[in-house]
Amino acid sequence: MQAITVRNRDAGLAGMSLTDMPYPHAAENDVIVRVHAAGFTPGELDWPATWTDRAGRDRTPSVPGHELSGVVAELGYGTTGLSVGQRVFGLADWARNGTLAEYTAVEARNLAPLPADVDHTVAAALPISGLTAWQGLFDHGRLTTGQTVLIHGAAGGVGSIAVQLAREAGARVIGTGRAAGRAAGRDRALALGVDTFIDLQTDKLEDAGEADLVFDVIGGDILDRSAALVRPGGTLVSIVLPPKVRPKDGRAIFFVVEPDRARLADLAARVRDGRLKPVVGAVRPLAEAPSAFAPGTRAPGKTIIRVTED
Ligand SMILES: NC(=O)c1ccc[n+]([C@@H]2O[C@H](COP(=O)([O-])OP(=O)(O)OC[C@H]3O[C@@H](n4cnc5c(N)ncnc54)[C@H](OP(=O)(O)O)[C@@H]3O)[C@@H](O)[C@H]2O)c1
Repeated sequence: MQAITVRNRDAGLAGMSLTDMPYPHAAENDVIVRVHAAGFTPGELDWPATWTDRAGRDRTPSVPGHELSGVVAELGYGTTGLSVGQRVFGLADWARNGTLAEYTAVEARNLAPLPADVDHTVAAALPISGLTAWQGLFDHGRLTTGQTVLIHGAAGGVGSIAVQLAREAGARVIGTGRAAGRAAGRDRALALGVDTFIDLQTDKLEDAGEADLVFDVIGGDILDRSAALVRPGGTLVSIVLPPKVRPKDGRAIFFVVEPDRARLADLAARVRDGRLKPVVGAVRPLAEAPSAFAPGTRAPGKTIIRVTED
């Protein structure tokens, strides 16, 4: 089968190529998925798990990409809830070969059924951004109806989904970003439903006022200054770095997204019903994945790699 591989940590992107790879082995609890569309994270060549397995052993050549939408090709021993030929989408393990491949092995619990009327290219944009947004807002951030949430990077991958989920939960939403940035932050965030937009390049963040939850996707100085915006009893959630500055009377949390089959199914149902729209950017063929990874080439929205035509 064909796959995109990376071979050498020092070479990074220069060592990324379209390669013939063996068809994957279905270990216990694994599903082999025929990948139709895949998502990747631009920074993943910097992740240790791209290069080594859980025991720290070199696992190159490795296949990047951790989001997928496709069709079940084979079931390993012990899998439950899925059948051969079924449409599925989900989140592949960080420390195993990923989704920029015609076939990949994923633990069954990391996959959810995909409704027939949700396109594979849309579903592949959902697992990381959708689960991260949900877990940040509700599992870690404890957001409830009537509260105020400030979402940094509101026009980006995670932020745009967080805005839509928070709105539907009945929260007041303040969005931030760059009005004149790659994603034309202000227009996009207002279209997604933020009540107020703060342009971090021209407005003063502190003018946003207090929020029950601040959800940060930017880090650095913005994260440090966000602690002071958290209301007493509120929460600062970061997905970039553990916060160094904590709210005076509140919680500070950093987390890494976790797979969740039930939540994935819920997010897919929202997409099917038109209540949630992941922002899909360019859709490119597998052979163009190396150039899609290159810094500075990203269009607004999540770049999706179309691996197999439906
Ligand atoms: N911990 C986890 O589990 C987890 C999960 C998912 C993502 N992440 C991380 O979270 C970060 C965001 O991911 P994403 O997919 O949402 O990225 P993204 O699509 O690039 O969105 C980031 C948004 O923030 C804006 N932004 C970035 N820096 C800014 C600044 N200094 N001032 C104003 N606006 C700024 C960007 O504006 P422009 O459009 O103008 O660039 C963009 O709209 C990444 O670092 C990613 O690796 C972590």
